[in-house]
Amino acid sequence: MAGRTRRNPRRHLTTAALLVAALTGACDRKQDSPKDDKVTKAAAKSDDPVAAADAMKLSVLGPVPIPEDRPQTQAKIELGHRLFFDERLSVDGSRSCYSCHQNEQGTGGETPLAVGAGGKPLPRHSPVLWNVAYLPALYWDGRASSLEAQARGAWAGGNMGVGEENLAAKAAEIGKIPGYAARFAEAFPEEGATPETIVQALSAYERTLVCKDTAYDRYAAGDKEALTAEQKEGLVLFMGKGGCGTCHAPPHFTTAVAGEGVFFNTGVGVAGVKPEEVDVGRKKVTERDEDFAAFKPPTLRNVTKTAPYFHDGSAKTLQEAVRFMASGGHDNEHKSPLLADRQLTDTEIERIITFLSALDCPQKLERPELP
Ligand code: HEC
Ligand code: HEC
Repeated sequence: MAGRTRRNPRRHLTTAALLVAALTGACDRKQDSPKDDKVTKAAAKSDDPVAAADAMKLSVLGPVPIPEDRPQTQAKIELGHRLFFDERLSVDGSRSCYSCHQNEQGTGGETPLAVGAGGKPLPRHSPVLWNVAYLPALYWDGRASSLEAQARGAWAGGNMGVGEENLAAKAAEIGKIPGYAARFAEAFPEEGATPETIVQALSAYERTLVCKDTAYDRYAAGDKEALTAEQKEGLVLFMGKGGCGTCHAPPHFTTAVAGEGVFFNTGVGVAGVKPEEVDVGRKKVTERDEDFAAFKPPTLRNVTKTAPYFHDGSAKTLQEAVRFMASGGHDNEHKSPLLADRQLTDTEIERIITFLSALDCPQKLERPELP
């Protein structure tokens, strides 16, 4: 066991170093250079947090990656928008995608654990959908490698309850609804309504769910008035003393955009649960012990609106979630060494939360008129 705990930190630190390098390369503005990086680090240590924040080189979001073989068209997006809101997609007409990803919860879930079609309890909390198009691996454990695969999983599986073997019949049923037929013909003239075109349309719509105009984004783009002094103080704590930026790196506020996704064990879902009953998270996908109870750091964009928090919905408030993270999570054999007790004062926790409000997404999903 001692050997394993010694091996782990190296693995995680190497992953972290790599991903920070990858992110800097991939997302920072062109003019960024190693020299700027030093400025950022020095600034984060300075006594004047406002000046320190203003001196930081912060990265902004690039364009949404669009798969080459699935170009976006207005017809697909409009069709997908309607399908996303349409409860007729589910086995019993009780659930649309939107049912579990609503504006009121910032596009996350309302209940700690999601409840699928037929009242079926699901094992995890519904995550936020803003900026999912940037993620190389979907779900808390990264088991789906495309939006299309994820949408098919949600539609066939417990969320909508249709069953893989019934998807073709369901697609045909949807395609016959007057109003949809013409939309399918326009968006997919060759194929019409099939499981594949339905998940492609849903994904085309999801690729438009972009949140890149928060106060943070305006600030990072050069508007120094976009953040208040307290938010700047919170930003410096977030990137510096709090150590949050390692796993929730700007501009995505998650490191899950690097490589095939990055997963960390923070101890969520481990406390007081029998080892054999713990949700093993990433380990189920990789079958590696060190991925035990490791989950994707969710984006913190829109986080003030998405209570409850964590993959098991166990934190009721943002304050509770931030305190858990800042105090080093819950100890267990595989906890990431990047998570430590940062000894933050109550005021410092409050400042970080104030900074997180600079990540509020201004837009909402629009409910379309259904065919
Ligand atoms: C019954 C509630 C429910 C319904 C209905 C539902 N989802 Fe979800 N969604 C969830 C939950 C819970 C998760 C996380 C599951 C996991 O990680 O194992 C999730 C995850 C996702 C993710 C991954 C986000 C990320 O950050 O990795 C996307 C994208 C998504 N859903 C889109 C959809 C689409 C599209 C539909 C409709 C086809 C849909 N959802 C229907 C509950 C729901
Ligand atoms: C070692 C990487 C790591 C560090 C460092 C870290 N986090 Fe996290 N964070 C995660 C992971 C992983 C999750 C998801 C945990 C889960 O649900 O199992 C998470 C979840 C969260 C959530 C809940 C979001 C949601 O939608 O459910 C908040 C809020 C949060 N972190 C804030 C912070 C803050 C603030 C800091 C700094 C004090 C911080 N984190 C430091 C990895 C990290």
